[in-house]
Amino acid sequence: MEQQKLEQLLSNMTIEEKVGQLMQFAGHFYATNENRDPVTGPEDLQVSSISVNRSGSVLGSAGAERNREIQERYLEQSRLKIPLLFMADVINGFRTIFPIPLGLGSSWDPKLVEEAQAISAKEASSAGVHVTFAPMVDLVRDPRWGRVMESTGEDSFLNEEFAKASVRGFQGDNLETDLNRVAACVKHFVGYGAVEGGRDYNKVDLSERELRENYLPAFQAALSAGCELVMTAFNTVDSIPASGNQKLMREILRKEFDFNGVLISDYGAVEELIPHGVAADGKEAAKKALLAGVDIEMMSLCYENHLKELIEEGEVPEDLLDEAVMRILQLKNKLGLFENPYRNASARNQEKNINCPEHRKVARKAAEKSCVLLKNEDVLPLSNEKIALIGPYAHNRDILGEWSIFGKQEEAVTLKEGIAQHTSNYVYALGCPMYERSEEALSEAIKAAKDSTHIILALGEGRDWSGEGRSRTSITLAENQLELLRELKKIGKPIIVVLFNGRPLELTEVEGLADGILEAWHPGSEGGAAIANLLFGKANPSGKLTMSFPRTTGQIPVYYNAYNTGRPLPKGSTGRFFSRYIDAPNEPLYPFGFGLSYANFQYESLQLSSNELAANGTIDVQVLVKNQSDYSGEEVVQLYIRDMVGEVVRPVKELKAFQKVFIPANETKQVHFSITEEMLRYHHANLEYKSDAGEFMVFVGTNSADVLSQSFDLK
Ligand code: GLC
Repeated sequence: MEQQKLEQLLSNMTIEEKVGQLMQFAGHFYATNENRDPVTGPEDLQVSSISVNRSGSVLGSAGAERNREIQERYLEQSRLKIPLLFMADVINGFRTIFPIPLGLGSSWDPKLVEEAQAISAKEASSAGVHVTFAPMVDLVRDPRWGRVMESTGEDSFLNEEFAKASVRGFQGDNLETDLNRVAACVKHFVGYGAVEGGRDYNKVDLSERELRENYLPAFQAALSAGCELVMTAFNTVDSIPASGNQKLMREILRKEFDFNGVLISDYGAVEELIPHGVAADGKEAAKKALLAGVDIEMMSLCYENHLKELIEEGEVPEDLLDEAVMRILQLKNKLGLFENPYRNASARNQEKNINCPEHRKVARKAAEKSCVLLKNEDVLPLSNEKIALIGPYAHNRDILGEWSIFGKQEEAVTLKEGIAQHTSNYVYALGCPMYERSEEALSEAIKAAKDSTHIILALGEGRDWSGEGRSRTSITLAENQLELLRELKKIGKPIIVVLFNGRPLELTEVEGLADGILEAWHPGSEGGAAIANLLFGKANPSGKLTMSFPRTTGQIPVYYNAYNTGRPLPKGSTGRFFSRYIDAPNEPLYPFGFGLSYANFQYESLQLSSNELAANGTIDVQVLVKNQSDYSGEEVVQLYIRDMVGEVVRPVKELKAFQKVFIPANETKQVHFSITEEMLRYHHANLEYKSDAGEFMVFVGTNSADVLSQSFDLK
């Protein structure tokens, strides 16, 4: 539909119809069939059918037949025939479920993530979804926060790469003509991952420099890839809740980032301006949110109940309402909904596209590439050992992760089923339930272990310990699981621990007792098959951590791109007056970028084409990576840079490039990078974004701690 027709449509709308377009209600408000959605919020809204019948979009409803029926019934009664938008959380897959984003990020493979999210979009669009509330690009340095599972970790550069890849995967090149795609909604704008104490929905207090250096770039990256929507965060920024924060939303997002798409609040976040204490009532909340530029109010009624009155009283100009409505109409138009309100939704498309073998194959590949080998004392890969497969995750289908709303656990492949594809020489024992001890299960497991040569111990966090509203004050495994490990250790057989979890865990005790550790995250539909392929060497682990694993919860926050401080602790020093702890080292147990392989990659001869960089020039970086093993495999070669002297303090190193390269057994690969002046820019004291002449270090290696280094000068 041409723009002037949209303008004509807007001019024909009553103010009630305009306000209606800004409302979003959960699917069960519309469902006419018996299987209504469970209430997803803290309590259900009391809203009239009149409001529902003039709303603009639907939250969390999927299924071709269901959404077609809702759309049809809605349009029948709609005066202006403006179709509904269907939005849902398709975070790491729709029905074919991929590893949680913290796992996908550990693949360090943006192309793979783009492929995975294209599959998510194809399946979701077949089921009548038009918009996904993804990618979540919150930078996270605190694994106590349950939503770390939804992020790609502690580094801005990596988050930017995955933000772009996800938007490309979801949206493709042309949303209107490519019906297998969905519009993406980058979230949560901004800073949600920095909640104080890792406690969900808590205060966030970041300097503007911190925001611009670490928390905003991934949003800019998503927008640069054409992301159509942005979602506001629940938290405050500079003591103003994001959903009422004009500086964030009007000045930075809309003006500076030139974002003209739809801004949607998070669930109830407009009304939450009241408990935050910046709005006395729903009317004031509505005013603040609209002035801040929030277009859609998700699952609260401030706009519905007060916007008309605010406009009639001259409290807010009707232009702001018209702008919001126009952005929503333009999004519906971009999706071609006026011409085809059903887009890709059909039983036939569902049958053809959802959970098909080729999608499962990609899910298995993604899970293989997302797993991170943390320890291997020559116990892996396995061949024909007699295995005792033990633990609450040994034969458990609940491995889809906390944001797998539309996934089906019964379609997940368990670790036991995966292992059975490689050997029949194994016995299975539960060992213990997820969170409590069982004398009987323990003794059965000990007996099974005594009759075997190797133990695979599948432990982790239940999905009910992960995700939104699931912050933890301690990030260890449950005590009963640690006891199971300790008891099995007494038997004296090699133990390979496989971890199913949604956050970096405190693994110091596990590290001391296990001979092998494979971090599998919540690995999705094909998790068991992928893990077994890795354990038996059919695939070679290539994942690398995108978040540091603390030695103890007390170390949090611990992250690689930290400041040196005025009293950096000299290596090996036990001196008192340095930046250190008296009861633990400063370093994490596993650093950012860490991950082992069955191959043995050695780095040699880091060379720079010059030790001087002209402002408009480049320095070519070359390093040799030798695979001194009989295992071919992929290695993530990482390049970091340090600005030795800045106008403000600069981190001890920052990831600036990486390449995931395949190196055949016993071969060497020459890996090249280019350094440009642009990579050296940062926000100065006055927040100007530029580089300074001076000395820089460049580090290249297999993780953020194990690197070769050289220096160069920017002229
Ligand atoms: C939730 C989450 C948000 C999600 C939304 C809709 O509270 O914060 O990420 O997209 O509500 O389910």
